[in-house]
Amino acid sequence: MKITTIIGARPQFIKAAMISHAIAAHNQLVGYAQIEEIILHTGQHYDDHMSAIFFRELDIPEPKYNLGIGSASHGRQTGQMLMAIEEVLLKERPDWVLIYGDTNSTLAGALAASKLHIRIAHVEAGLRSFNRLMPEEINRVVSDQLSHLLLCPSQVAIDNLAAEGITKGVSITGDVMAGALQFAATRASVHSDILASLGLRPQGYIFATVHRAENTDNSQRLENIVSAFASLNEPVIFPVHPRTRKFLKERGYKLSENVTLMDPVSYFDSVALETSARFLLTDSGGMQKEAYWLKVPCITMRDETEWVETVESGWNVLAGADHDRIVNAVRTFTAPMEHLPLYGDSESAARCLHALLESCE
Ligand code: UD1
Ligand code: UDP
Repeated sequence: MKITTIIGARPQFIKAAMISHAIAAHNQLVGYAQIEEIILHTGQHYDDHMSAIFFRELDIPEPKYNLGIGSASHGRQTGQMLMAIEEVLLKERPDWVLIYGDTNSTLAGALAASKLHIRIAHVEAGLRSFNRLMPEEINRVVSDQLSHLLLCPSQVAIDNLAAEGITKGVSITGDVMAGALQFAATRASVHSDILASLGLRPQGYIFATVHRAENTDNSQRLENIVSAFASLNEPVIFPVHPRTRKFLKERGYKLSENVTLMDPVSYFDSVALETSARFLLTDSGGMQKEAYWLKVPCITMRDETEWVETVESGWNVLAGADHDRIVNAVRTFTAPMEHLPLYGDSESAARCLHALLESCE
């Protein structure tokens, strides 16, 4: 079986690493047909600390193709990806295309494969924010409609798909990021010295990230977030996404002294910072789950989330981009007594691969 994995953005490298590891484990088994995986990197993310560093840390095989598309408006970026992915797929003719999550690379991969009648497996299918102003929501809805195998992290995702009439090829596998976190957590304790290098003590800081278009492109929302950080009266470690850095610079925002602004960190450093943080303040999808798995309280600076179970559990609080709601959420948070397992475990990637192999029988 030949698979083409299509990835391009930071969280997709982390997710794809787990499936690549599962494929490598499968290929070690005696008596089973080999799986050939060809990795195609669209080049959506390209800075070393947004891309190559994840390949190094997570032992991801070198992409056979890097399209080098880079940054552009949605239409231009997705269109350029579509053209270039089509060329590769015509040459490679894989049995399956594997897509991840909800970025423009996901959408371009789904469109290119479906027009060539190549089967598509979508890892992290069925997530919905029900907010069509988010580019990610458009990418998910279209990608799910075009996919033949929908690998879902939760029952909620399955229900979301059923509500859109998608029931065929749907499978509950758990979330592949659960395994990635476990993989990184053991290594981070040996390979990451980020806490020492920043002079941090466990529970002595808040870890923050911001990158959603709705928060960065809207100057009032970004200003509210930055002013909430200033009101927290404790160290805020803020590895800033290049999108956010661009807007902070353009608008000349000054961050207060309690905020440490730095370049994006590696995955091991991110996991180390998350593990010992008092709180996570984020608009990231992946980090809401990581916070939950690590039992670190999360304040999500969005108006809604796809990861509704984390909010229902009481470990995640939606605070929008509102100064008072963010600050009050940090001041008044009480950890729930209960912490139920959510979104699978370290075997989620193996379950995805199993579902893929089964659907070929
Ligand atoms: C993208 C995804 C988002 C995902 C995020 C993960 C879409 C529509 N959005 O958002 O769903 O959560 O990745 O991080 O696909 N830039 C750099 N260097 C880089 C990459 C980006 O400087 O290596 C800057 C450029 O100015 C670029 C901006 O960041 O215009 C935004 O990058 P882009 O990939 O378009 O979207 P993200 O905000 O990263
Ligand atoms: N992350 C990282 N370095 C950072 C910030 C985040 O490695 O400086 C990791 C984080 O631990 C999580 C993933 O990147 O695993 C989340 O990616 P991002 O927030 O960019 O995208 P989203 O999950 O929102 O799509």
